[in-house]
Amino acid sequence: MKRLVILISGRGSNMEAIVKACAAEGWPATVAAVISNRPDAGGLQFAAERGIATAVVDHKAYANREDFDAELARVIDGFAPDLVVLAGFMRILTPGFTARYARRMLNIHPSLLPAFTGLHTHERALEMGCKVAGATVHFVTAELDHGAIVMQGVVPVKPGDDAKSLAARVLTVEHRIYPQAVRWFAEDALIWTGECVAHRDGAAQQLLLS
Ligand code: GAR
Repeated sequence: MKRLVILISGRGSNMEAIVKACAAEGWPATVAAVISNRPDAGGLQFAAERGIATAVVDHKAYANREDFDAELARVIDGFAPDLVVLAGFMRILTPGFTARYARRMLNIHPSLLPAFTGLHTHERALEMGCKVAGATVHFVTAELDHGAIVMQGVVPVKPGDDAKSLAARVLTVEHRIYPQAVRWFAEDALIWTGECVAHRDGAAQQLLLS
C-alpha cells in the first residue's frame, strides 16, 4: 500500500477526484493526509468528512520560505508518505524541499507545459490565440513547473471562450489525468529513462477531449 499525502490551498477538486478514484477503483494506495497552507481551504472539510487526517501549516506564520518548508516537511513526514501530491498547492517551494521529495512529488499545472508556467495560464493562452489548451501532471523539481511529464490532457479552445470557461473545460481533463497519474505511481507502473517517465506497458500518457 502506497501512502499518499495531498497538499491543497483551496477548493481541492483535484484532491477530491483522487480520493474518490482511489476508493472506487481500489488502488494499492491510501490517502494518509490532506494538508493545506490555508486554514480556510474548502477541501479540508471534504477530507475530514471522509475520515482522512487533515493538517494546516499556515505560511503566514513563518518569516521566510525556508522556515515554512521545514515545518511543512516535518508535518508531511509525520504521515510517512511514499508520494506527495500537490493539488492546487499555490506555494513556491525551496530547492531543499523539492530535493527531499525528488521523484516522489507530483504536481498538476493548468497548461500544456512547457508553455505558460506560473500564473494566469488561461488568460495567456487566450491572448496568444491558442487553439488547444490543457493540463500537465509532472514530477516536481527545483525549477517552477518543470520536471518529468507523466501525463497531459488536451481540450479545444472554443470560439467565445473566456478564462473562466476555458478553466472549467481544462478542469474536467485535470480530474481525469491526475487520478490516472497517481494511480500509476501507486502501481509502480512508471519507469524512468534519464529524466523522462513512461508507463511500463506503454499506456497512453495523453488524453484528448473534444
Ligand atoms: C487547478 O486548476 C490546478 O491545476 C491549479 O489550481 C487549480 C486548483 O483547483 N494549479 C496551479 O495553478 C498550480 N500552479 P482545485 O483546488 O479545485 O484542485
